[in-house]
Amino acid sequence: MDARAIIAGLRQGEQPDAEQLNWFAQGLADGRVSDAQAGAFAMAVCLQGLKTDARSLLTRAMRDTGDVLTWGELDGPVLDKHSTGGVGDCVSLLLAPALAECGAYVPMISGRGLGHTGGTLDKLEAIPGVSTQVDEARLRRILQDVGCAIVGATSQIAPADKRLYAIRDVTGTVESIDLITASILSKKLAASPDVLVLDVKVGSGAFMKSLSDARALAKSLADTANAAGCKTSAFISDMSQPLAASLGNALEVREVMQALTSGQDNRLVEITCALGGALLADGGLAENSNAGAAQIAAAIRDGRAAERFARMIAALGGPADFLQRWEGILPVAPVQQAVFAGETGYIASIDGEALGLAVVSLGGGRQVEEDHIDPSVGLSGLLPLGAVVTPEVPLAVVHAADTVSAEAAALAVRRALTIGAQPPVLAPLVHERIA
Ligand code: URA
Repeated sequence: MDARAIIAGLRQGEQPDAEQLNWFAQGLADGRVSDAQAGAFAMAVCLQGLKTDARSLLTRAMRDTGDVLTWGELDGPVLDKHSTGGVGDCVSLLLAPALAECGAYVPMISGRGLGHTGGTLDKLEAIPGVSTQVDEARLRRILQDVGCAIVGATSQIAPADKRLYAIRDVTGTVESIDLITASILSKKLAASPDVLVLDVKVGSGAFMKSLSDARALAKSLADTANAAGCKTSAFISDMSQPLAASLGNALEVREVMQALTSGQDNRLVEITCALGGALLADGGLAENSNAGAAQIAAAIRDGRAAERFARMIAALGGPADFLQRWEGILPVAPVQQAVFAGETGYIASIDGEALGLAVVSLGGGRQVEEDHIDPSVGLSGLLPLGAVVTPEVPLAVVHAADTVSAEAAALAVRRALTIGAQPPVLAPLVHERIA
């Protein structure tokens, strides 16, 4: 087999077969394929596209370059969720314990922040003592004991993707639906869930800004995962404003703990229930999605999900009494500065990407992979779309390490929000579900 022939064929619009894709993926993982060849492969896929069959074959070939976990020891369905990323999206932290409380097992292999979006692992590690890098034996123990484990991928999960993703990042080939599909699913399918739900975000705070792009990605992901034998559906959900009123790692954990302990409903809880309801129904733990959503809502409302979450935190090395003391345990930034509109009207639009980048500039996300994250910084009390604004009401509060970065973030927040004379038309939280 020769990488040059595979790349040249792709360049001319031919579809590679299983043998070629297995060989190429293996070559990515073991170094037989060079960086230049990997970059040329990614560019050829970007330009020519893959048909459904080849996309599925590439996904499975990349998955099979590493460990594919099996769960014979578990006595319930294994369920998982993946979000394509947005701002203030801390759904996984509510959903995993709520699902476990409803009888599922949830080995949720998650990622770190990417661009303007936060990462689930960074959020969890804002809790002192928590480490999400666990080996397979520990993952299995936590799953048996707690029912859910949100952890990072080991180097043995889809190593071909780790290499190809880094090369795509520097060759302008990230934005290919074929490559995004193979990248996301090679890792998700390595955890062998029985059922998967995908939350494809659309709007100013998401990677997909238009409904048609989100639909194309959702369909590609759902078709590919189903073809690989994993029962999968995809939701397209609104990210025209952040999901929660806070952005930033520790601040989002505060939002999660409030949702888990206050019994109050909000957009974060609502989307968690919708995604969880679909998973419970498809996993045979609820009669239908509505009944499943009600089970998730009950687990959150009556505090059972909070207790389960605290057990997971303790199992990952965090404080044993997190549920009792979370307000005092989570780190707090030294500077807090309110942002004012200086005018009257309604919040008419929110540039979620700009808000996410403001949090990255505060130190709450990474500009390069080696950057150290400050878990305490971010935004809180962000007003939602349609809120009434007066000169005295803060639009948000910036949490910063110093006054200089607080000033810069406050300016960025003010610019990211448009104040209008009329309230905007609000998008539905869930646009559609693709089964
Ligand atoms: N997340 C991934 O894991 N891969 C992509 O290609 C894009 C987002």
